This record gives sequence, C-alpha cells and structure tokens, in this order.
Amino acid sequence: MVVFEDVTKIYDDETVAVDGLNLTVEHGEFMVFIGPSGCGKTTTLQMTNRLKEPTSGRILVGGRDTKEMKAVDLRRGMGYVIQEIALFPHMTVAENIYVVPELLGWSKQQKVDRARELLHLVDLDPDIYMDRYPMELSGGQQQRIGVLRALAVDPDVLLMDEPFGGLDPLTRDQLHEELKQLQDKVNKTIIFVTHDMDEALKLADRVTLMRDGKLVQVDTPEEILRNPNDEFVANFIGSERRLISPLDVQVREVMLKGVPTIGPESGMDDALRLMQEKDTDYLAVNDGDQFLGMLSAHRLQVLRLEGDPGGQVKDANLINATVDSRETMMTAVHRLAESQEHVLGVINRKGQLVGAISRGWLPDILAKEMWPKEAAGYETEES
Ligand SMILES: Nc1ncnc2c1ncn2[C@@H]1O[C@H](COP(=O)(O)OP(=O)(O)OP(=O)(O)O)[C@@H](O)[C@H]1O
Ligand SMILES: [Mg+2]
Repeated sequence: MVVFEDVTKIYDDETVAVDGLNLTVEHGEFMVFIGPSGCGKTTTLQMTNRLKEPTSGRILVGGRDTKEMKAVDLRRGMGYVIQEIALFPHMTVAENIYVVPELLGWSKQQKVDRARELLHLVDLDPDIYMDRYPMELSGGQQQRIGVLRALAVDPDVLLMDEPFGGLDPLTRDQLHEELKQLQDKVNKTIIFVTHDMDEALKLADRVTLMRDGKLVQVDTPEEILRNPNDEFVANFIGSERRLISPLDVQVREVMLKGVPTIGPESGMDDALRLMQEKDTDYLAVNDGDQFLGMLSAHRLQVLRLEGDPGGQVKDANLINATVDSRETMMTAVHRLAESQEHVLGVINRKGQLVGAISRGWLPDILAKEMWPKEAAGYETEES
C-alpha cells in the first residue's frame, strides 16, 4: 500500500509541482495517473521512491514513512520503469536483469534462475535472449526487459512512468496484455503514469486525474467515463468516449453481488429451502473459499422431475461457466451464449466467486447502463 498524506513539492524556482496530494493506493491495485503535461505525475513518482523529496507532507509505503527508510532500501522494494528504457547498452539482457540482485549479493545460480523465470513470464526464450545486447532487440523487447529488470528482486511496488510511450500501437497492445497477466500472476501494487486515456481505461483498477499538481478525480474507469467531476475531466476524456457502450462496461461494475452460498456436502432439500428463503434462482457452491460451481433452480427442478431430489449438492452437475470480474460485459454475453448456461459465476484473480451474471438479469443491466435515470430505482447490488 502506498499512502500520500498532504504531499507538496515546490521546486527551488518556486514551481509548485505537486500541491497537497492525498491519496491511498491499495495493495495489489493498478493505479493509473493521468493528466496534462507538467501536472506533476513524474514528480509524484519520483517522490515515492525518493529520487526527490517532498517539500512537505509524507509518503507511507507498506505502513512505513519513507523518510525514515534508507533511500537505497526503499528503492530495492520498488521497481521503476521509465519511457527512456535505459537498459545498459554494454550489458547483455541477463546482466541488465542482474543489476539489483547483484547489489543484494545473490549467488550466480539464483541470478540465472531468476532471469530465466522472468523471461518466461513474457514469452521470451531465455536460451535465445539472455546473452543478447539491447541493440539486438526490438523496441518492444527492450521495453519488456526494462519491466523485467524492475521486477527482478520481486518488489512489492512497481512505478511506471509512461513506459510504453514510444511504442507502436500493436506492440503497446501486446505489452498491455502482458502487464495485466503479470499483475495477475505476481500481484504488485502498480502506479502507472500515462498521457493516453485509452491506455488508462484499459489498464487501471482506478484512475487518478491530476491538474496543476492537484487531484481532480480518483475513480474507477467506468465512474470517470460515466460521471466526470467537471468540465476539465469531461474534456480530457473526450466527449465521444463518454457514450460508452453498455457492453464495454466491466462485469464487476454491474454483476449481481451477494449470491447466497452453500457447502458441497449439503443436501438438495437444504439447497431448495435456501433458494426459497433468499428468493434466488442460483446458489454458489463453495468449499471454504474455493468456488466449485453454481447450482440453479432449473437444475434442481430437473432432478426432481427425474425423481431424484436426494443426494449432495456437489453431485448435482454444477454450472461451471465463469467470467473474470475485470472482463467486459461483451465477453460475459459471449460466454453465456457459448456455454449455453443461464448463469455465469464471476470470479476474481484468485478464482473466488465475487458475483454472478445471469441471462434473466441482462436486460436490466443493459437498460441501467443505457438509461441510468429511468432505471434509477433499480439496484444490482444486494442491499
Ligand atoms: N527540477 C525541476 N526544477 C523546477 N521545476 C521542475 C523540475 N522538475 C519538474 N519541474 C516542473 O514541475 C512541474 C511538474 O513536472 P512533472 O515532470 O512532474 O510533470 P509531468 O506531469 O510528469 O509532465 P509530463 O506529462 O510532461 O511528463 C512542471 O511545471 C515542471 O516544469
Ligand atoms: Mg512526466
């Protein structure tokens, strides 16, 4: 977790680069900073790893005031990637990745193993790429190595300052995908700076919009698109993008939350009773916090007609179609059609159930997105 408390930076020439910044970036969160040139994004990142010191206020990382930490120790726990990749040209890919591990006194074997592991993460064959020099790589490949180098000693926090700025759109798209997958696999707290609203909306859990050193809006991409705080935000987003298609909305924004759960060993009668009691057509079958599948009223009905309402819930041919909570509704609708099921379990990064999308709910969800005023009485969240 990274916490900014009243952080202000005034440079020697009296430029106020950051002005009373208050913000908490949660553990594991992908936070994107965006705003016009000169609004203080880079300064904020550089204060986070103490390349620059705040004039006033404090920054806490993992609960500790960074001022009380040695800058070197702080930076070891924090990867930093910038646009001007800055790989050492006279060092091979492997040697570039070894830089920080070397400072920490890792053994040769540890370093080699780590470099190989990292290269596999981004689908670069270590046998081919370990011994290449930066100039023997494409721009996108160099950028990947820049990211890997920042990840080498497994830092909790990753600071990225327009890391993909100079790349062509195709390579960027590919690196976005890789970065998202990486975030799933290694679960870092990421603070990512960009100028590009599309990039922000695509990657962010939350977006922080800055102007003249101040926060203008901190929200999920959907919230920013739907409810820009003021003219400035609206203009920055661009008016055309505010007419977001309901199918572009992330599943987690609209899913049905609070699906009742039942244990795998429970009987069918219990399941039926719970459905009636909770007035729901679906139950999530969970073993501890592990999601096994959904049980539907329809399925229970079929079992009854077959004259076999007995047995345990786990033997009821559970519905195991799922969708990741960060996917779009477009994907969810496709998944429903493809699976021929009536409901999808919505799962988080850890594979745990966080909600559901059912065919029955779809019209309401879409209506609420398209005509929020008319559908205002309608709530997708269980209250
Ligand atoms: N060393 C410095 N001395 C004086 N002013 C500085 C210094 N570094 C940055 N600034 C000023 O502080 C403000 C914020 O700069 P910063 O680099 O944080 O902006 P930014 O949001 O990253 O911009 P960009 O999008 O162009 O990278 C700008 O007005 C800039 O000119
Ligand atoms: Mg900058």
